[in-house]
Amino acid sequence: MRDLPALRSALLAWYDRQARDLAWRVGPVERRAGVRGDPYGVWLSEVMLQQTTVPHATPYFLSFTQRWPTVLDLAAVEDGDLMAAWAGLGYYARARNLLACARAVAADHGGVFPDTEEGLRALPGVGAYTAAAVAAIAFDREANVVDGNVERVMARLFAVETPVPDAKPELKALAADLVTADRPGDWAQALMDLGATVCRPRSPLCDVCPISAWCAGLQTGAPGTYPRKAPKADRPRRYGVAYMLTQGDDVALVRRPPKGLLGGMLGLPTSDWRGAPWSDDEAIAAAPPAAAWRDRGAVEHVFTHFSLTLRVFAAEGDGDFVWTPRQGLGALPSVFLKAALAGERLV
Ligand code: ADE
Repeated sequence: MRDLPALRSALLAWYDRQARDLAWRVGPVERRAGVRGDPYGVWLSEVMLQQTTVPHATPYFLSFTQRWPTVLDLAAVEDGDLMAAWAGLGYYARARNLLACARAVAADHGGVFPDTEEGLRALPGVGAYTAAAVAAIAFDREANVVDGNVERVMARLFAVETPVPDAKPELKALAADLVTADRPGDWAQALMDLGATVCRPRSPLCDVCPISAWCAGLQTGAPGTYPRKAPKADRPRRYGVAYMLTQGDDVALVRRPPKGLLGGMLGLPTSDWRGAPWSDDEAIAAAPPAAAWRDRGAVEHVFTHFSLTLRVFAAEGDGDFVWTPRQGLGALPSVFLKAALAGERLV
């Protein structure tokens, strides 16, 4: 195996030189002097960072720790106050878990965070990643801290050909081989900093990478192509016909059934969306009223679960519809807006 101790030294030396200055971080110099992070701050920052980026999380972290300087202060907060403070950070479920965890630390642990990975993992709302991160960063436990950044670094460093997500256990095992009892907290943060600033998702900065000499991905000539991704299954294609019926400046719309795709929204009348294309005769036979329908081409739209090819036919006519002026069409779902624009196309 390549010289892993030398790789570790190179990355830790890089971290010593240029660790990012983060609000919750005890930098390498202070750490050497024996300063340890406050487990409460480490835990709070990790929960916030699972939700968002460092620049977005930082002001929240500062205001939380100013308002609630200890886990006991946080545990005493009213649910509504916490939810209000969390607004802008995403899923409220996380905020509820945060409070449940703070209350468990207060009630069951006397306000002191457990100092092992297992002890942390047993707290409500604390998953494997958070437990490992807090154990390593706050308590310098030999924990393997693997998030998406670390997975990417491992996939490149070892040129892992297995696509994600299948590769996850392999990537975790590779990361584990690099963790030792020496500076586990700094190691975890060094890998995170490397992933965030150098081994970036797109256009990695291999020229300035402190561990490029060990990187099998770089040797392939295309490090940015790792981690490999399983090819996306092709979306099935459906076919339909949209009818642009007009009367002067008004366009005929229908309200879609409340359940299902685009439920309850206004749209152009359409045929069924089926697995086979529609011929001209079929399209005209399926039209809502008989009219002098003219072919206006087709539009493509991609939904989450299928792609749609929608032929568009246009005619002047009458009938029981939601007649809507043309300038009101901007509010339509984009598939219908595309079709309406095609319907206006001059032949
Ligand atoms: N991303 C998640 N946790 C982090 C940490 N402790 N430092 C830097 N980036 C992170």
